[in-house]
Amino acid sequence: MMNQLQGEVIAAVAPSSNLGDYETTYNEFKWEDVEKEFSWSTTGRLNLAYEAIDRHVDAGRGGKTALLYSDAERDESYTYEDLQLQSNKFANVLRNLGVSKGDRVFVFMPRTPELYVSILGTIKVGAVVGPLFEAFMETAVKDRLEDSGAVALITTPTLLARVKRDELPELKNIIVVGNDVPTDDGLTDYRSAMSEASSETEIEWLEREDGLIIHYTSGSTGKPKGVYHVQNNMIQHYYTGKVVLDLKEDDIYWCTADPGWVTGTSYGIFAPWLNGATNVVRGGRFSPADWYQTIQKYGVTVWYSAPTAFRMLMGAGEDIIAQYDLSSLRHILSVGEPLNPEVVRWGVKVYGQRIHDTWWMTETGAQLICNYPSLPMKPGSMGRPIPGVEAAIVDDNGKVLPPYRMGNLAIKTPWPSMMRKIWNNPTKYEEYFRIDGWYISGDSAYQDEDGYFWFQGRIDDVINSSGERIGPFEVESKLVEHPAVAEAGVIGKPDPTRGEIIKAFISLREGYEPSDELKEEIAKFVKIGLSAHAAPREIEFKDKLPKTRSGKIMRRVLKAWELQLPVGDLSTIED
Ligand code: WTA
Repeated sequence: MMNQLQGEVIAAVAPSSNLGDYETTYNEFKWEDVEKEFSWSTTGRLNLAYEAIDRHVDAGRGGKTALLYSDAERDESYTYEDLQLQSNKFANVLRNLGVSKGDRVFVFMPRTPELYVSILGTIKVGAVVGPLFEAFMETAVKDRLEDSGAVALITTPTLLARVKRDELPELKNIIVVGNDVPTDDGLTDYRSAMSEASSETEIEWLEREDGLIIHYTSGSTGKPKGVYHVQNNMIQHYYTGKVVLDLKEDDIYWCTADPGWVTGTSYGIFAPWLNGATNVVRGGRFSPADWYQTIQKYGVTVWYSAPTAFRMLMGAGEDIIAQYDLSSLRHILSVGEPLNPEVVRWGVKVYGQRIHDTWWMTETGAQLICNYPSLPMKPGSMGRPIPGVEAAIVDDNGKVLPPYRMGNLAIKTPWPSMMRKIWNNPTKYEEYFRIDGWYISGDSAYQDEDGYFWFQGRIDDVINSSGERIGPFEVESKLVEHPAVAEAGVIGKPDPTRGEIIKAFISLREGYEPSDELKEEIAKFVKIGLSAHAAPREIEFKDKLPKTRSGKIMRRVLKAWELQLPVGDLSTIED
């Protein structure tokens, strides 16, 4: 399993990083020492929003800029004290609506300061946050609100149209942010409620194992899973912010992820504010010019993004880079999909910086295997485990495999930010821990003799398109709702920019003929029903799809067709 790239090494760049010497720190590390840095280790009063925001104000740093926000229309700046007062107000708005500890409160809106204030205020009352992507359509929104039993939702007048209120009896309150808020029952105008609310509040003091956030994410079977995380996560958010993001006192940090994705909360909210950094949020869509402009405008020093974005920037070329001053950048990181060595080399050439790959998952809550400024980098490798975490390659019986053998990427349990349940689905939760003492990630990888991990692929059928996890089942279920579709099988097809794209194989019902118009219509049907990122970019009609005798579509065979590979064992196929 030797990777051809093995052997290429880019030297460490910052031996003076917060991590210090990796081997020494790794060997001497204890999570208890990190806990001592939180106020609750002495006061016993614990709430992540307090630690992220109010604690800095109490320590005299309230005037420091916490949030730099801009989009096409707005350009705003918020200090830690501003965020403290705003989130206090929002906590009071929620309390006035009867929201309390443990309730699920969802946010469904674009990145704006109000989104961040809503999330912090929700945490302050001890409720559990549920972030949704703005791109979600009716079915995707309903499935998640229904499964979690959400009692409140914060959204905008436009997105409100996608919320099927009559089918969600538990959803009692919707807070609407924007102009022209309708005055229906159950709707609250964010602005007027905020202007009436007091800026002082009683923070709900919690236990370490009390809920923090639910992120819905896709598996290969069934509907999306609600990955449930607790307050205790903050220990790892804080620590990885310090040693992986390498955040220091005067850093201007920009994480490009939306809070609908775990990267946008763990590293777009919690890690930077727990570390007292200045956090940049840029609204609107990706464009190379806009992104470089953002780095220049704010003097971004630490930048966390994803391989698809870096590949698109690479595609945009070097001429555009020459038009901006990017000299503030001192540390760049990536997450979500394999980071091509070519992209790392390009980063060194054009930004004068190594792009540091980091590996983790929604389920792991925070980074686990990473590249650090103080360690030599092997382009193509995800790096080495963070201090306090033991990772290994194990076979299906839990036997640890030697270097260069490919197997399950597994993490020794527990670690602070490990998910604590899959909402409403204990069976799914247990599947991750089926091998005693280990969390089984679903990724395959190998380790080299220096302890670096090398990603090889997913073991299941989960699709990773532009860093977003898409469950083939969810897409297939939507496809078969279309009147022309008899059966559908969905796979990830390799793509040079997006990593993978969604390809659907479809057999049609009687009376329907294959055509390009029908392909377009079906793709649009998924886009409108589920979300744009779940819509197949390619559709192929087949008379019949390969199925097991129990009627399960064999995606493995579809993939082999697509890649023109041998189809393997077909003993369970229907005929
Ligand atoms: C993939 C949350 C290669 C992997 C951050 C994982 C990666 C899944 C990397 C998690 C990486 C994430 N290199 N693959 N550095 N990081 N992945 O929960 O398959 O949306 O299991 O990501 O993304 O997806 P999730």
